[in-house]
Amino acid sequence: MKVGIIGSGGREHSLCLALKNSNKITNLFCFPGNAGTESIAKNIDIESEDFEKLKNYIIENQIDIIIVGPEKPLVEGIVDFLEKNNIKVFGPNKIASQLEGSKIFTKELCKKYNIPTASFGVFKNSEDTKKFLKSCKYPIVIKANGLAAGKGVYICENKEQSFQGTDEIFNGKFGEAKKILVEEFLEGEEMSFFIISDGQTYKTFCTAQDHKRVLEGDRGKNTGGMGAYSPSRLETEELNKRIIKKIIEPTLEGLKKLGVTFKGFLYAGLMIKNNEPFLIEYNVRMGDPECQTILPKLKTDFGEVIDACVNNNLKSINFDWYQEKSLSIVLCSKGYPEKYENNLEIKNLSKIYTKKNEFIFHAGTKEVEGKIYSNGGRVLNFVTRSKDLIKGRNSLVDLIKKLDWENGFFRKDIGHKIIDK
Ligand code: AMP
Ligand code: GLY
Repeated sequence: MKVGIIGSGGREHSLCLALKNSNKITNLFCFPGNAGTESIAKNIDIESEDFEKLKNYIIENQIDIIIVGPEKPLVEGIVDFLEKNNIKVFGPNKIASQLEGSKIFTKELCKKYNIPTASFGVFKNSEDTKKFLKSCKYPIVIKANGLAAGKGVYICENKEQSFQGTDEIFNGKFGEAKKILVEEFLEGEEMSFFIISDGQTYKTFCTAQDHKRVLEGDRGKNTGGMGAYSPSRLETEELNKRIIKKIIEPTLEGLKKLGVTFKGFLYAGLMIKNNEPFLIEYNVRMGDPECQTILPKLKTDFGEVIDACVNNNLKSINFDWYQEKSLSIVLCSKGYPEKYENNLEIKNLSKIYTKKNEFIFHAGTKEVEGKIYSNGGRVLNFVTRSKDLIKGRNSLVDLIKKLDWENGFFRKDIGHKIIDK
């Protein structure tokens, strides 16, 4: 079976490796991939926006299945486009992708089906928004409706901050804004909950907790994710059941009533308060770095999983997982998530030896004439699967120190809530 993966991050490298280890796969392609995927797949220099070129390449090379990693092409309808051309794709279609593409779509769905979430209001202009913000209780949360690469959310402590956020959103900082979402601030602890679905059956696909803030102690600016661990420390059988009954199933039912099914990974970002789940947001894909944290725990042949999903046969798969926990640390370019330099050589990678339970996934890297260069804010992911996360994390930190990349920085405290007590 030939499989193509769309995307170029650490998530996609880990998907690639899981497929490389599958008995079913003969050829792997990555569009456009990174230096890590280059070593196990064929990188094809076509960007995910170029649907037409992608389609032509897939057909010419008889690729059997396409997996879409990132949200942007999903929200733009790549699944509908490729399926119309008789290509099998693992990922949700354009309407189902609204779960991530429009925060207001998701909130309306929550309201209609009584899915627990923060109470909210939708406003159409800055004047009405500010009228409400003058009299509301703080903190309050303001969100741009569409995709904003994790940046369109403002947690506001006071009126001034909320007015500033409102102005930035309506002035187009995250693209044209016809509406704004104002939400109650939820207290509690966050947890990421994943399912995989073929449109008919779904199965849970582990939980995780990522660390979004750039600095140790969960301080500083928000990022795409500086590291993660799996499972979440909050996970229990009872809580899982509640999440499924109160959040996942009503969502899938709600979509069905709109005439769509959900195929792909669904990632529920939750706030857990007193053991009760509230939906913060949906992502219609695996998380990054959650994907590279979770996949090394999977024992089941991932090629079989994907094949079953695109053939409506997920019910035939029984997932088998390693019992160990896992943890990832992201090595970033200095300056991330703001300005940083690209094209800096990463010299010592070939000298780094990982143990059997350790993995290095590339994210923002590229290979030129046999040398590896940085090519993004998040550059490499170091992952361990381990019974003892203290030892596991120490070992990852040692690996990063050995790499000794002068342009890199990372957080040494990933998993502090479960490790550093
Ligand atoms: P989102 O992009 O919607 O996941 O929001 C980014 C981050 O903002 C989340 O991971 C939460 O930490 C925080 N957040 C979003 N909405 C809320 C809310 N209603 N209450 C508290 N924190 C929130
Ligand atoms: N790590 C958060 C995300 O992938 O959205």
